[in-house]
Amino acid sequence: MRTPVEELRTQVAIVGAGPAGLTLAALLDAAGIETVVLENRSRAYVEARIRAGVIEQGAAEILIDAGIGARMRREGIIHHGIHVQFDGERHHVPLSDLAGGRHIVIYGQTEVVKDLITARVDAGLPLLFEVDDVSVHEFDGDAPFVRFTHEGRRAELRCDVIAGCDGFHGVCREAVAERLRVFSREYPYGWLGILAAVAPSSEELVYANHERGFALLSLRSPQLSRLYIQCSPDDDLALWPDGRIWEELQLRLALDGWTLEEGPVLEKGITPMRCFVAEPMRHGRLFLAGDAAHIVPPTGAKGLNLAVNDVAVLADALSAFFASGSETGLEEYSERCLRRIWRAEHFSNWMTRMLHHTSDDPFVRRLQLAELRYVTTSEAAARTLAENYVGLPGEFFAAGISRLQVGGS
Ligand code: FAD
Ligand code: PHB
Repeated sequence: MRTPVEELRTQVAIVGAGPAGLTLAALLDAAGIETVVLENRSRAYVEARIRAGVIEQGAAEILIDAGIGARMRREGIIHHGIHVQFDGERHHVPLSDLAGGRHIVIYGQTEVVKDLITARVDAGLPLLFEVDDVSVHEFDGDAPFVRFTHEGRRAELRCDVIAGCDGFHGVCREAVAERLRVFSREYPYGWLGILAAVAPSSEELVYANHERGFALLSLRSPQLSRLYIQCSPDDDLALWPDGRIWEELQLRLALDGWTLEEGPVLEKGITPMRCFVAEPMRHGRLFLAGDAAHIVPPTGAKGLNLAVNDVAVLADALSAFFASGSETGLEEYSERCLRRIWRAEHFSNWMTRMLHHTSDDPFVRRLQLAELRYVTTSEAAARTLAENYVGLPGEFFAAGISRLQVGGS
């Protein structure tokens, strides 16, 4: 006998409980819109995944608006600058001085996700972990639904809108694969990242270009360092015992008069680097957001920030739609997000090319050094880095839309 299908109903069905899905749920909840979040992993897995650590001021403000900023405000560390290192020199880039006083907040994505999940669970709002067989249907009409299995029971979630926030390997983008224009680039290198139980040796992040390859010194707290080195994307972690990683970090981050402190490695992993954009991000009543629609190489620290920005645009559009039936925001969603996404793709590519070992050709190396020297000497060049790194304000991208409308009328 076939098991009965449980019928459920909500306004917005959200697939994926990463930063995009959970932030969207929090923003919609604050606007009085019903949501159900479906996640295929366990709560423990989602809360343990270590990823981003740099939050733009604007993205932090969105999280505060979503009502989950209290711990981030207490424990997040505000940074006003970064260091760029090359050729044995370390240069300070005063981000806030160059970018109208704006800053970044150092607060782990893991912590953001924990805060979002706790708030939702405490509020008794639906968030189902370990769902299987998720599929999205009928989104070209006005009565879409999501099928899934949970605790052995098959279910159908009827809704007005589906938000595909299920990351790069999810099912929502797959469901519209034939309608998408996809842009993608794989880099011939990856990042080996470690989390180490040692106080960060520099108060602010250090991005280092070294002939042996890129290195980055970042942090999660006054007691936890996060460090990365450029490696081969198909490197075997087994070939990277802790001692070898520290040795490489010592070489690439070395600076006269400064010491990199070492400590126990708590976690390590290799991430391939790619650019990816799938256009458009709206397909009837299915909206893609975050890594489901785009990936940037991590050198610009933009992935999490883009995900949060996408869902802020979507939450505004959905609020207007449910309040008055207006579809204007929904129609503009894809274009509005893509303007920020392409800016971030360009910035992240630029940072990646400038900071990684990309070629053994001495000519390429000379050009890289000339660019690094320019960025750390010319105020105009440093400002370009700074305003992109801290995040351009929403108006910058919205202005494009209104100009388009004026031009089109
Ligand atoms: P995800 O975080 O991938 O969440 C998607 C969720 O959907 C997951 O929980 C997944 O389990 C779930 N899911 C998948 N398939 C299904 C399904 N079929 N059904 C239900 N659920 C499903 N970004 C920054 O801004 N700053 C940084 O400093 C930074 N550093 C990074 C460092 C590393 C090493 C890496 C790997 C990434 C970094 N990023 C950074 C990028 C950032 O982590 C991602 O862009 C961000 O996680 C995107 O959030 P998301 O919610 O769109 O996707
Ligand atoms: C991080 O702390 O994980 C981090 C910081 C800056 C980046 C990427 C990752 O560009």
